[in-house]
Amino acid sequence: MNILVIGSGGREHSLTWKIAQSPLIEKLYVAPGNGGMGDIAICVALNSSNHDEVVEFCREKNIEFVVIGPEAPLVDGLGDRLKDENIAAFGPTANAAILEGSKGFTKDLCAKYNIPTAAYGRFSEAEPAKRFVAQQGAPIVIKADGLAAGKGVIMAETLEQANDAIDDIFGGQFGEAGAELVVEEMLFGEEASFFVLTDGENILPFGTAQDHKRVGEGDTGPNTGGMGAYSPAPVMDAAMIERTINEIIIPTVKGMAAEGRPFQGVLFAGLMITNKGPELIEYNVRFGDPECQTLMMRLKSDIVPALMACSIGNVHEVETDWSDDTALNVVMAANGYPGSYDKNTEINNLDQAGAAENVVIFHAGTKKENDSILAIGGRVLNITALSATVKQAKEDAYTAINKINWPGGFFRRDIGWRAIDRGD
Ligand code: AMP
Ligand code: GLY
Repeated sequence: MNILVIGSGGREHSLTWKIAQSPLIEKLYVAPGNGGMGDIAICVALNSSNHDEVVEFCREKNIEFVVIGPEAPLVDGLGDRLKDENIAAFGPTANAAILEGSKGFTKDLCAKYNIPTAAYGRFSEAEPAKRFVAQQGAPIVIKADGLAAGKGVIMAETLEQANDAIDDIFGGQFGEAGAELVVEEMLFGEEASFFVLTDGENILPFGTAQDHKRVGEGDTGPNTGGMGAYSPAPVMDAAMIERTINEIIIPTVKGMAAEGRPFQGVLFAGLMITNKGPELIEYNVRFGDPECQTLMMRLKSDIVPALMACSIGNVHEVETDWSDDTALNVVMAANGYPGSYDKNTEINNLDQAGAAENVVIFHAGTKKENDSILAIGGRVLNITALSATVKQAKEDAYTAINKINWPGGFFRRDIGWRAIDRGD
């Protein structure tokens, strides 16, 4: 079968790497791909926001299955269009992708179906939002309603910061994504990510992970898309997974179906493990990046039947086999990220760095020019190791990263610290 993957990040590199190992594959395409994918797939310069162009390509190349990596094309309805054209696709339709596209929608769903989450209010004007903030007190969380590339969440320590955030959002800082906002109680505990494949009715748990969102060591400084991750998440033991499935995942899948918005694809629950148990922080409607890279390293069985079952049905009957080892991923980013950063700096010695059998280097913002690899994005490389413990995986990932010669980039040296402090 011929498959097309949409996307260009480390997440899509790892999905493509895993799909390429499937015996079901004849031709594997990726649009647009990046500088690291040329050996495992055919990179094509398609514009995924032009749905006609994607459909035409699928017809021309006989594509039987499209795997949509990022959230933007999903929220934008690429999944719907492919469905209308009878081309099977992995990823929800737009009316289900609203779980990520509107934080207010998700909060209302939680309220209606009794899903544990932070107390909240939804607002489309500043004055009532400020009155609510004054009643609740600080610390408090202010969120732009729509997609804001992970930057639309302000953790306000004081009422003044909260009021400023409200003014910034309604002042247009996040464009259309800030036409509405959500004010939320601040939750305390340990964060974890839980992934579940669903066909709209049945579920297949698909792993746990934890990521490091802040740019600086000790989890300090501004938020990023994620500077590293590891899987499994030690805090998600069997009992916590069962509670999360029963209290959060199943009510969501049933609730979405009851609302006429059946969700097919991967539900990525961002959780806070509080002293009361798991609470939902947010849903994403695609795999996490860099969490996906760690999941793909641990998955031993063929991923293609599992992804396809989300649109076919009976996803719970697909057998999956996972390594019990830990995969840990360290992100290398361009100097300046998450602010403005340099482009077109050269990266050397990747082959030697990735030579160990348990290490894979997934690319993100890179391009290949002649035989050189150039950095062209903020997050650029994902050095991922699979080893018996978090500590060993960390050591192996950093041994590899230290061999990379890239003066234009930086990385955090403490990925996995929380799990290692716990003794995992
Ligand atoms: P989100 O985009 O909603 O996942 O938020 C980004 C990050 O902000 C989360 O990963 C948390 O670290 C933090 N966050 C969001 N909402 C809350 C909350 N209600 N309480 C504590 N932390 C939060
Ligand atoms: N690493 C967090 C995310 O993909 O949203």
